[in-house]
Amino acid sequence: MTAMPLTARGAVAATSLVTPSADHAQVRGDGSWPLEASEQAVAWDEGVITYVGPADGLVGFEPEWFEGCTIAPGFVDCHTHLPFAGWRADEFEARLSGVSYREMHGEGGIYRSARMLAEASDDEVLAFCRSLVQEMADHGTTALELKTGYGLSVEAELRQARLARRLAEEAPQTCSVTLLACHAVPEGMERADWIRAVRDELIPSAVQEGLVDAVDVYVEDIAFSLDDLAEVARCASQVGLPLRCHADQLGASGAAEAAVALDARSADHLNHVSAAGISALGGAPATVAVLLPTSTLFLRSTPPDARALLDAGAAVAIATDFNPGTSPVLSMPEAIATACSLYGLRPLEALAAATVNASAVLGLAPERGTLAPGRPADLVVLDGDAFRMVPYRPGHNPVVRTFVEGERVGGR
Ligand code: NIG
Ligand code: FE
Repeated sequence: MTAMPLTARGAVAATSLVTPSADHAQVRGDGSWPLEASEQAVAWDEGVITYVGPADGLVGFEPEWFEGCTIAPGFVDCHTHLPFAGWRADEFEARLSGVSYREMHGEGGIYRSARMLAEASDDEVLAFCRSLVQEMADHGTTALELKTGYGLSVEAELRQARLARRLAEEAPQTCSVTLLACHAVPEGMERADWIRAVRDELIPSAVQEGLVDAVDVYVEDIAFSLDDLAEVARCASQVGLPLRCHADQLGASGAAEAAVALDARSADHLNHVSAAGISALGGAPATVAVLLPTSTLFLRSTPPDARALLDAGAAVAIATDFNPGTSPVLSMPEAIATACSLYGLRPLEALAAATVNASAVLGLAPERGTLAPGRPADLVVLDGDAFRMVPYRPGHNPVVRTFVEGERVGGR
């Protein structure tokens, strides 16, 4: 994996093309849902799209023709927990025998991933993650989030952020790094002391080194409180970093409403979001409701009322939540399929959620996540003749080609 030279020129054409409108940085319940058209082409020069339209109107390019296929914007995975170092399949098996995720929190869970990360060398962590990032490219992911949160000390969080930055430089995709400053209270420490360390040491050091693009807090009874979220939000806003929030995942806490009130970029998970949270997200100018359906499936937890969120006018995104505990799934097509079958999203709602709305969460919209002249040529060719084939065939990888800034980075 090497940095992209911006020299790529090329064109593809296919039976169908689907993209959210390039006029909006977010798609909400206002009729601006993606549209599909037949026999379309996309062309690009120096990594930037120069043409989107009928295949027979393209001049000066010989497009590669994909019969029976669909061109779409590349997927944006706006919530992952990479880099991590090792799996926890035994915890999955224990949960199937009746042990709960909460019960595992300590010996297992986030603390265990923190120990595994601490025991691995930098080279081991990067080698482990590199092939996963390539697998994501082969599943159509053209931009993604990387997150800390398995450090659990100031030094170890900074180390994980540096590893994330190194991975971001090597990855063929565009990556954004989030400091999950509050994921679990470090062992042997009081919560209030950790919040002080985050405020006085971790965030300032991460900013000084230019390591992170956003700050995230896990609000939960086994993790951090609404007051902690507010304290970290104050600090993030002082240094100009956007806020994100793991909200209402295992239980209702009011975190979604708080995230909206704090102007967070996103409230993520939302399994137990309240009616007040849904209405707050519906009217939120900036906060995207990030749904993580594969973690819901994997934990066999309660799905959120996604239809109520959409009806309320929320900007909805879908991501994988890729992590070794609650979602060992890195495939955006799988996340889209699960969003449709488990949460009831319609295929084109899921497409907007997996592209432009996810891009908004990472501060990359509308440039990434839509197909239009002047935008980076981040796109996929999918092997069905309409986008609905993606959620219709869970378990199948539909990605034939993945391009980032016009360079072929994945597919088959
Ligand atoms: O998003 N909810 C907290 N964090 C992760 C899980 C982390 C882990 O189990 O390692 C999540 O689901
Ligand atoms: Fe998460």
